[in-house]
Amino acid sequence: MSKTKTLFFCRNCGAQSLKWIGKCPSCGEWNTYDEEIVERDKDQKWNRQTERKQSKPILIKEIKYDQDSRIDTNNIELNRVLGGGMVPGSLVLVGGEPGIGKSTLLLQIALQIKNCKVLYVSGEESEQQIKMRAERVGLGNDECYILTETSTQQIFQHIAEIIPDLLIIDSIQTLQTNIIDSSAGSISQIKECAAEMQRYAKLTGTPVFLIGHITKDGNLAGPKLLEHMVDTVLQFEGDRNYGYRILRSVKNRFGSTSELGIYEMQGSGLREVSNPSEILLSQRDENLSGTAIAATIEGLRPMLIETQSLVSSAAYGTPQRSSTGFETKRLGMLLAVLEKRHGFRLGIKDVFLNIAGGIRVDDPAIDLAVISSVLSSNEDIAISPKDCFAAEVGLSGEIRPVNRVEQRIAEADKLGFERIFISKYNLKGIDLSKYNIEIVAVTNVEQVFSKLFG
Ligand code: TYD
Ligand code: MG
Repeated sequence: MSKTKTLFFCRNCGAQSLKWIGKCPSCGEWNTYDEEIVERDKDQKWNRQTERKQSKPILIKEIKYDQDSRIDTNNIELNRVLGGGMVPGSLVLVGGEPGIGKSTLLLQIALQIKNCKVLYVSGEESEQQIKMRAERVGLGNDECYILTETSTQQIFQHIAEIIPDLLIIDSIQTLQTNIIDSSAGSISQIKECAAEMQRYAKLTGTPVFLIGHITKDGNLAGPKLLEHMVDTVLQFEGDRNYGYRILRSVKNRFGSTSELGIYEMQGSGLREVSNPSEILLSQRDENLSGTAIAATIEGLRPMLIETQSLVSSAAYGTPQRSSTGFETKRLGMLLAVLEKRHGFRLGIKDVFLNIAGGIRVDDPAIDLAVISSVLSSNEDIAISPKDCFAAEVGLSGEIRPVNRVEQRIAEADKLGFERIFISKYNLKGIDLSKYNIEIVAVTNVEQVFSKLFG
């Protein structure tokens, strides 16, 4: 007779305990323990004993590793984010908000990939819905199987018949293993199902993609533990009101985490954006005040994007500061610098900032473009569309150097800009004769102001 066993799991870190506790001893969070029924049935459990027999210690010099073993996904952006293609036996988690395009992306990969038998398991949509989407993206793969199933035991049975070269699970939160009694989406289920997928991937060398939901506060639903278990965590993000989507690598055991892929959601699926500066160029028309172009680097790729500001007299008592695509706190800091160090009276003004294309930028090198667009709106004088900026602004109003400035200059030059404003301290070692673009080296905000509006 099996005995019902319950355990308590921390919602935050996945730690488990026999009894309820108020403060998690492993992550320190309060009130995060939930009770879940965990009934383990010895007969149905994966037979770990036989698995164990297959492993034995091996000398590191004898381990064979084939560098060319990466599998081409036939999608340049995804290959780039993964570090050069899929690694056999890797477990990849793709996270993102609902409706951002995770299912579309992976279905597209399933249909696009060459010479690869794919099993796409969906616990969220019906076969008809998936077929409709496949028709929308307009791709066909003769070896793409669709399975609508949530029980992992059933899924593994089908896997044993089909023997796919790539497994896609949409989503990990819908999976359910019958060795645990709690409902799908609970922490113990997610943990156990992910563990089963991990074992399957490692034992058979099949790459597995797991789609994961993101909670309201931006974390992957389920414990952090899921992120620890997988080899790679990719985050799919973007503003739903715009078409551009960024696929970022948050963790990657097989490559760099600074790479990213850029896509555009269109009526017929996701299009790869190989020239990111088009995000800016497609949106630019006339010469208005309040816009400045920043030469930024996203991942390892330079791109030029537009920052737009609107500065107006505060309509109500407290001036508003709002920004999309840029940290509001940092905007507040830059405005304080302008106010305190340079005497611009912005404390009584509303300031709105927007990064074109709905893209979020973390690169501090866009500071100078932000400040220039704010000043341009404040003075109501347009900045020449042939000017761009790449510098950080410090607390005392100094213009600071940024990394990989030459890449930024080269990109701006290539796109036909005539002037780029950089920090004087970035000049060292740059061969100015290489570029047609004029390089304006500055040390403080006043110099920028007089060059732009003086
Ligand atoms: P979906 O892949 O279902 O998102 P997720 O799996 O992350 O929840 O994407 C849904 C959105 O994408 C939906 O709002 C419709 C849009 N979309 C397009 O704009 N074009 C397309 O070709 C497809 C398939 C979806
Ligand atoms: Mg989906």
